[in-house]
Amino acid sequence: MANILLTGAAGFIGSHLATELTAHGHFVLGIDNFCTGRSINLDGLKTNKDFDFLEHDISKPFPIACPVSRMKFDWVMHFASPASPPKYFAIPIETMLVNGEGTRHLLDFAHASRAKFFYSSTSEVYGDPLVHPQTESYWGNVNPIGVRSIYDEGKRYGEAITYAYHRAKKLDVRVIRIFNTYGPKMDPEDGRVVTNLLMQAIRGQEFTIYGDGKQTRSFQYVSDLIEGVIRLMDVDYNQPVNLGNPNEFTILELAKEIEKLTGKALQMTFRPLPSDDPKQRKPDITTAQRLLNWEPRVQLAEGLKLTHEYFAKI
Ligand SMILES: NC(=O)c1ccc[n+]([C@@H]2O[C@H](COP(=O)([O-])OP(=O)(O)OC[C@H]3O[C@@H](n4cnc5c(N)ncnc54)[C@H](O)[C@@H]3O)[C@@H](O)[C@H]2O)c1
Repeated sequence: MANILLTGAAGFIGSHLATELTAHGHFVLGIDNFCTGRSINLDGLKTNKDFDFLEHDISKPFPIACPVSRMKFDWVMHFASPASPPKYFAIPIETMLVNGEGTRHLLDFAHASRAKFFYSSTSEVYGDPLVHPQTESYWGNVNPIGVRSIYDEGKRYGEAITYAYHRAKKLDVRVIRIFNTYGPKMDPEDGRVVTNLLMQAIRGQEFTIYGDGKQTRSFQYVSDLIEGVIRLMDVDYNQPVNLGNPNEFTILELAKEIEKLTGKALQMTFRPLPSDDPKQRKPDITTAQRLLNWEPRVQLAEGLKLTHEYFAKI
């Protein structure tokens, strides 16, 4: 059993991960400041004896008086960061800080605690990729001053400082690059494409499609991601690993899939493509397949059904 400090525990992915880690017999101390997370995501965890929670902004170090600063952990897992564009556009500086200063404080904390460090990076480090599909060796095509740079460059800095600690202080690190992930516990107002279209279908509103809808995305169901994270913890591998579903869909195909699911034909409104929106994104998951014997199992129709049920319920 491991002692794990997990940031972003009230978020979509963090709350699933906390639940799964405790199910594997670990103790999890979840940390969050609720800037994009929701306390409803902690509902099932509040009564779990292997879970505890601290409200804290991890862009600041733990105060000396805080008991956490004296606790020892086996893992520090950093999953805190706004992840949906409308959310990080609303708090741009906080987004840079949580991946910059936040990552640095947690690296120091992991080093002092002799813990391993796990960083959740993103496919956004590839920017608007010129290589397709994206392998971990691709360096990316990112606009360093564009509107999305707060997130993309924040994550690139987060990766860079993680590897600085790995090289200079021999810290044992894991880095994953997460591709579009969806599922229950997402914030229904997070503005991501799956959420937007599912909520518009539930409300009987027109679908909003940005651009011509022919840009592609690959959508990973959350349980597949969590499985990949847990497997990577057991493997001695320090380089970045892509975790995503390589099945590629255009946004129009996604909309059609949701129409099929809900049985409602909805009108589509087309809006201009946001600035620096990537035209295509697809993970090369050869590393995860070879290293972790992992591949996504939940197909889009099934994952959308489970997510739709969750949104309809809440
Ligand atoms: N969902 C995806 O498709 C996706 C894709 C790529 C990468 N990621 C990464 O996975 C992680 C989790 O994403 P998510 O989709 O669950 O997003 P989310 O917004 O649902 O969760 C992030 C959590 O971090 C918390 N947080 C943010 N800043 C904080 C701070 N300074 N101190 C404490 N807590 C803070 C938020 O309150 C929230 O609970 C993020 O690092 C994100 O960049 C997600």
